[in-house]
Amino acid sequence: MKSLIVFAHPNPKSFNYALVATVEKSLRARGDEVRMRDLYKANFNPILDSQQLAEVQQGRVPDDVALEQEQVSWADNLIFIYPLWWFDRPAVLKGWFDRVFTNGFAFAYEDGQLQGQLSSKRVMLVITTGGNQADFGIESDQLCTSGTRATLSFCGVDQILQKVFYAVPAVDDAARQAMLLELEGLAESL
Ligand SMILES: Cc1cc2nc3c(=O)[nH]c(=O)nc-3n(C[C@H](O)[C@H](O)[C@H](O)COP(=O)(O)O)c2cc1C
Repeated sequence: MKSLIVFAHPNPKSFNYALVATVEKSLRARGDEVRMRDLYKANFNPILDSQQLAEVQQGRVPDDVALEQEQVSWADNLIFIYPLWWFDRPAVLKGWFDRVFTNGFAFAYEDGQLQGQLSSKRVMLVITTGGNQADFGIESDQLCTSGTRATLSFCGVDQILQKVFYAVPAVDDAARQAMLLELEGLAESL
């Protein structure tokens, strides 16, 4: 299987980086080909400005977007790893969706009917939070990822595995190790 990790965290010493290393190791251990899009490291431009919006509307795909679309097309599995920032993705990842999931690539309309173009993909969302699970309320997992899930679902993805690791900065090392171990198992089962 081919797996693409799309990662959004600016700090190479963060726990998120340990999550990425864990997922990559697990997937390679089971024989997957793994590619990575580290959006901060790649200095990905998340801003869909007026010129680019005009290009998109004319059906033109900028080179940096074409590169991301090639990676998405290549992959069977898409794994998104990021910290929760104001109940959502970091802006660089939101902008990645804005620019990469274009009409005609991620979805299309045929005879007025929506056709998700990414229905063959399996997706895993791995998210860390600062807050405790109890702070989020009952629907916490859905709340944290509603925008991302709605986007993926619109584009035809119906297989989404989601794992939220809560209160990451507050827990001790043993708890963080347990999180990494749990993620290892989840990634293997993707
Ligand atoms: C701009 C910003 C917004 C944040 N918003 C939230 C939030 O809405 N809910 C929450 O629980 N934590 C929030 N946090 C905390 C981060 O989610 C938390 O520090 C991170 O997941 C820990 O992982 P790390 O050690 O890999 O950075 C926010 C942090 C930043 C910098």
